[in-house]
Amino acid sequence: LFPWAQFRLPTAIMPLRYELNLHPNITSMTFKGSVVISIQPLQATWNIILHSSGHNISRVTFMSAVSSQEKQVEVLEYPLRDQIAIVAPEALLEGHNYTLKIEYSANISSSYYGFYGFSYRDENDEKKYFAATQFEPMAARSAFPCFDEPAFKATFVIRIIREEQYTALSNMPKKSSVPTEDGLVQDEFFESVKMSTYLVAFIVGEMKNLSQDVNGTLVSIYAVPEKIGQVQHALDTAVKLLEFFENYFEIEYPLKKLDLVAIPDFEAGAMENWGLLTFREETLLCDNCTSSVADRKVISKVIAHELSHQWFGNLVTMKWWNDLWLNEGFATFMEYFALEKIFKDLSSYEDFLDAQFKTMKKDSLNSSHPISSSVQSSEQIEEMFDSLSYFKGASLLLMLKTYFSEDIFQHAILLYLHNHSYGSIQNDDLWDSFNEITNKTLDVKKMMKTWTLQKGFPLVTVQRNGKELLVQQERFFLNIKPDVQPPDTSYLWHIPLSYFSGGRNYSNYQSVSLLDKKTGVINLTEEAQWIKLNVHMSGYYIVHYAGDGWDTLIKQLKINPTVLSDKDRASLINNIFELASLGKVPLQKAFDLIDYLRNENCSAPINEALFQTGLIYNLLEKLGHMDLASRLVTRIFKLLQNQIQQQTWTDEGTPSARELRSVLLEFACTHNLDNCSTVAKKLFDDWKASNGTQSLSTDVMTTVFKVGAKTESGWSFLLSKYISEGSESEKNKILEALASSEDVWKLYWLMKNSLSGDMIRTQKLSSIIRTVGQRLPGHLLAWDFVKENWNKLVQKFHLGSYTIQSIVAGSTHLFSTEAHLSEVRSFFENQSEATFRLHCVQEALEVIQLNIQWMEKNLQTMTKWL
Ligand code: BES
Ligand code: ZN
Repeated sequence: LFPWAQFRLPTAIMPLRYELNLHPNITSMTFKGSVVISIQPLQATWNIILHSSGHNISRVTFMSAVSSQEKQVEVLEYPLRDQIAIVAPEALLEGHNYTLKIEYSANISSSYYGFYGFSYRDENDEKKYFAATQFEPMAARSAFPCFDEPAFKATFVIRIIREEQYTALSNMPKKSSVPTEDGLVQDEFFESVKMSTYLVAFIVGEMKNLSQDVNGTLVSIYAVPEKIGQVQHALDTAVKLLEFFENYFEIEYPLKKLDLVAIPDFEAGAMENWGLLTFREETLLCDNCTSSVADRKVISKVIAHELSHQWFGNLVTMKWWNDLWLNEGFATFMEYFALEKIFKDLSSYEDFLDAQFKTMKKDSLNSSHPISSSVQSSEQIEEMFDSLSYFKGASLLLMLKTYFSEDIFQHAILLYLHNHSYGSIQNDDLWDSFNEITNKTLDVKKMMKTWTLQKGFPLVTVQRNGKELLVQQERFFLNIKPDVQPPDTSYLWHIPLSYFSGGRNYSNYQSVSLLDKKTGVINLTEEAQWIKLNVHMSGYYIVHYAGDGWDTLIKQLKINPTVLSDKDRASLINNIFELASLGKVPLQKAFDLIDYLRNENCSAPINEALFQTGLIYNLLEKLGHMDLASRLVTRIFKLLQNQIQQQTWTDEGTPSARELRSVLLEFACTHNLDNCSTVAKKLFDDWKASNGTQSLSTDVMTTVFKVGAKTESGWSFLLSKYISEGSESEKNKILEALASSEDVWKLYWLMKNSLSGDMIRTQKLSSIIRTVGQRLPGHLLAWDFVKENWNKLVQKFHLGSYTIQSIVAGSTHLFSTEAHLSEVRSFFENQSEATFRLHCVQEALEVIQLNIQWMEKNLQTMTKWL
């Protein structure tokens, strides 16, 4: 009988140190291992319960420090929970030290999780083998038996046996390399700092590196040999960011080396293993990075994110996965914060705003969840990796920083990092640090609980009444059953309200007050012509301007939009469209507001307007209302015509201007506006005629490829380039174009090929499905493909993972009929109970119902006035 019946491990035994010996054969995909674990009971016990998954355990021995005699012991297994139990030969006493040695063998995984392996072809088409790890959240247990929960921190000594031509890397610098009897080499790495199991990592493969020293830390970028020419940009960026974080946190990075490795096949974008950051090739390597803003931006963001985890996550770690947002929210926040500070020209706040809008949309559904919510199954843990943990988390931190000032914010997080280095924390520990720094001028804990323990966010309605502003809060909730489900009025947030107003003489001012009740009053010093709440959208809420509130803003935007910041203009566009979905304002008013876009030159507001109207376009198109859809496009085109016509097909301008160019030309080409497609076609033909050697401007490359992919020969040429091309950023642009084809056979072929990993790596599949699911010819196909291959997808990416979430959303979010609703529902119902209960499945069902409702509400009016 297995002596433990819970998902979480008992806390009676603490692991102190692991010594892990591995002997992998990365060609046959198997490995032998042994692990020696030093443990210390915190209370007397007989049982040692730990994690192990998929191991063939051949021998377990036990030794107490006192007797120092090895005894072979039995092991019990409970595969359902990945647990094993070892009954000790004697009672384990509190405070004494014991060691456990486990010898085992296992397969190297062919998914992307655990200790996994794959093959790839090098530039000479030779087959090569590579093995790497991805342990977060729960796969360290499949590489070695361990106490696989984040709070069980210990130190690790790792030894790996490899063939001579390979490089082996791990978290720590290499201590020694010795030849073994059978002609192999054993590398030993220094003992690690105290850390969680999910951060352990090792890699075996053929690699080269480029390195630079930063204050005693050797920073290296590793890639497969033929791509070593593409690492310079990442190295420069990593060096700058490491210096920035060490300064900002006032804590030195504790290891002597920091490796950033581009892995040829990798599921996530990147992973923050301590001292050994792993990346997809596309998020680390770039060919000629001076030319492409978007590529430079992605690389800088991902490096900043993973580097900041070295403090937030690695040094200070959440006790349990329910508080994952403390890891991911902080890393996401620091990612944008660092970029604003050291790469200001990239205007990364534009991306942040966009992500915040999309996260709020998700958070306004019933299927959302508090960012800190209890998790007790592996699917639930996987599901915590969603945009709420990342972007709601980061948005709340931004809100706090804005409310308290940058200085206080920094002091509070420094205190938090100092107090909890090498330890584990929960929500309250962070708020305690804030309370200590702010001297409890306000109870930060009480305030923040309203944001982390409740799902959703507030809708603040403001009504002007002379010099008074009457404000009122409720949950912003997109209700799928407004007739039967009354609004839940129990939600209450403590909202830092900021506002900004245009007075008679436009003497503008900005002010902040806290709304911690349902309603409140703000007294202005003078009557305002208009008022904008949630200045720069640095608060996580949506604002409805009652009475003539919206009209005064619409009027101001028409007279002079620039009295409001681009963030404010983008947030007005976002808020009014979201309010139209909620039924608080007529859709027509939202279109009224974006009429000012004729005078808009900034990227954020134009992006948001194109996103919101694009959503409507997509729904109309998929329902077959082609005429209405094209009238919608004509209307938007009239607003942006000037800006579109001003564009050149070059890489000139600021990063933000260049991204705007990509967006505008893409919009024009997709809808065949102006002579955009003609120009793009000409550029494509010239490029093709030069056999792809002629340089294309990077910002419009995707657009040019998409137009080129419309013909049979263009598509085939692009595919051949995809296969032979060595630059990941160019490959991505080609793949997006290939997946935008209107030919369903081609689309099907792409998805199939990517699933099998023949020419297109399986890591690209979710983005292919998303692209295919977006356009008319492919959107039914994408769903069919997902249904047909569901089991394989789950096997490869595992249930609940970020990739599965993205595949489910990407293949269903444009359905808007009852027939599709019941089809999607019954498909998932017929899978397992656990599948049907996934947030992403519930979300998909909700989104389809909301689409149906949206159409019922707005189709007629749109037909009339468009
Ligand atoms: N810790 C995550 C990687 C991860 C994601 C592990 C999902 C387990 C499940 C890492 O820090 C991360 O957040 N990576 C992002 C990239 C980042 C720049 C947003 C990713 O993989 O998308
Ligand atoms: Zn992260």
